[in-house]
Amino acid sequence: MNLDWVASILANGDLCRMGHAQRAQDQNLGLGWLYYALGRTVRPKQVVCIGSWRGFVPIVFGQALRDNGEGGRVIFIDPSLVDDFWADPQRTAQWFGSFGLDNVEHHRRTTQQFVDTDAYRSLGEVGLLFVDGFHSAEQARFDHEAFADMLADDAFVLFHDSVRPKSSKIYGEARRYTHTVYEYMNELRRRPGLEVMDFPMDSGVTLVRRASGEPGAQAASASPSSRR
Ligand SMILES: C[S@@+](CC[C@H](N)C(=O)[O-])C[C@H]1O[C@@H](n2cnc3c(N)ncnc32)[C@H](O)[C@@H]1O
Repeated sequence: MNLDWVASILANGDLCRMGHAQRAQDQNLGLGWLYYALGRTVRPKQVVCIGSWRGFVPIVFGQALRDNGEGGRVIFIDPSLVDDFWADPQRTAQWFGSFGLDNVEHHRRTTQQFVDTDAYRSLGEVGLLFVDGFHSAEQARFDHEAFADMLADDAFVLFHDSVRPKSSKIYGEARRYTHTVYEYMNELRRRPGLEVMDFPMDSGVTLVRRASGEPGAQAASASPSSRR
């Protein structure tokens, strides 16, 4: 492994945005180091990433799996609701390919749509789940519960934009909304059997894992209406 890949990511201004504490001046991936370290230490066979602006998180996890040298894939779910960046499958594959990655599998769907697919039903064990789609507490809960039964015993779940409310107009001024993922994090903090830790840098990320020795699925038993 050499660090050229860090330079190649940070050379792209779009990959330095969206609140992961990246800094091109000192070749700093910011929270990306945490994502990369989890990829290298958990060594998951499958990572699920929900939502990304230009692929910073799927790229970092894709690189970690590549450096692990044991295969594995990143399942990246994003319906391309902000603009058409993820609309064309060939362009998406070329984009990840430009970082030397062929292990990022994009699904142009919302999580609600993805859970109705054969790809979802045949997924198998997930070692890391990264939630960065629509930032309401309700959607974060849906994204978490959709994969809760597939999480490995030692899985980590990360929620981005999770430490404070923030008004966002990423879907246009007419669809301005307030991030409320932190409310779901506060609920998880009260739930026995889970460890929940905030990393408040920049837009913040929260790490959730089942406490050692705790059996069972990570999210609370999902109601039939929230789990399709
Ligand atoms: C741009 S990223 C996150 C950006 C940034 N962290 C922010 O401030 O919102 C959000 C992505 O989530 C995707 N998204 C929105 N709703 C979704 C859903 N229900 N399921 C999966 N992805 C979704 C959008 O297409 C978008 O690309």
